[in-house]
Amino acid sequence: MLWLLPIRLQSSRCRKVTTNRFDFMDTKVLKPTKENISYCAELIKGGEVVGMPTETVYGLAANAFDEAAVEKIFKVKNRPADNPLIVHIADIDMLKELAVDIPDIALSVCKKFWPGPITLVLPKSDKIPFITSGGLDTVGIRLPSNEVARELIKACGLPLAAPSANLSGSPSPTTAEHVFDDLNGRIYAILDGGRCSVGVESTVISFESDIIRLLRPGRISVDDLKTVASEVIIDKGVLDVISNDSKVKSPGMKYKHYSPKADVVLVDGSIEFFERYVSERNSADTYVLIFDNDNISDDIKSIRYGSTSEQQAERIFAVLREIDKIGAKKVYARCPSKDGVGLAVYNRMIRAAGFKVIKEGD
Ligand code: TXA
Ligand code: MG
Repeated sequence: MLWLLPIRLQSSRCRKVTTNRFDFMDTKVLKPTKENISYCAELIKGGEVVGMPTETVYGLAANAFDEAAVEKIFKVKNRPADNPLIVHIADIDMLKELAVDIPDIALSVCKKFWPGPITLVLPKSDKIPFITSGGLDTVGIRLPSNEVARELIKACGLPLAAPSANLSGSPSPTTAEHVFDDLNGRIYAILDGGRCSVGVESTVISFESDIIRLLRPGRISVDDLKTVASEVIIDKGVLDVISNDSKVKSPGMKYKHYSPKADVVLVDGSIEFFERYVSERNSADTYVLIFDNDNISDDIKSIRYGSTSEQQAERIFAVLREIDKIGAKKVYARCPSKDGVGLAVYNRMIRAAGFKVIKEGD
């Protein structure tokens, strides 16, 4: 099938986007065939942004070297300019072009966990524009394991800057449909790679000599990281509230995230405590988020989000989107375990709840 490139592409490469208004674009959801991957690569090389599947969540991809294209990412998502983007590569050789002074421990992490769901924050090379790094001297780099993502990067022959492909503040997208729901009319194409297998965004780490600092938890867990580092520090921003004007190690920590419109409260305790607590507050537009193996009264409307931490990670964002679709006003959620990838689920859930936690025994 022959696709015609949209006319505005041809002159857009160096053009600055200066307003948040969009000409309505016909957003195509495309199967990841060779042809469609080439079409999307042409869009990206022409300065456009494209929805791309990865194993974690869908990304909104553009040429990481093209300032005008990267600016479009910020406009499309309505993202604060100081929140840096992760740059995606298809092979480890690309790393040396993008980062400098790479410590040995970073190379050990790459060797062990790439391709995969982990992002390394490293001193950036001059090739990375400051708009991509959110004004920082460092850049986050990731080599995804998702084949479609890697094929797209290879077809472009460029590193791709890609934040999660949601509107800023809303839950990250784990299907092409989620991307369409948020960005329909704002982008030309979404490559549909099916449901993301991990379901939460990559683990983000930085390095302090031989020590790893965890900036955002993900599928690669603290225990996984301890197999390559003498010490792993969990940054304060992973579990605590960060005020909007404070200086943080990873700017994404301070922004409101993953929030459904409903008021979410996390309830930390046994299922008996949970059921008692919710029963006393149950009303027509109240829902609970519980685990697959929880038994709870039929009078309480429930949505289940898995039993293992891996399943909870895979489903959490879809469930947070569903909450809004069904029009829930108040949601009480069972508190996930903080072990392994559970720490990532907890980190996303506590933000969805705006840090409102009720503890059994308090
Ligand atoms: O799994 C993922 O990481 C997905 C997929 C698309 O790869 N991407 C993603 O991007 O989650 P985004 O932009 O939604 O989240 C990136 C996070 C933000 O919290 C940002 O602040 C942090 O990584 N980050 C990026 N570059 C950084 C840097 N140079 N220093 C500190 N934090 C950085
Ligand atoms: Mg995001």
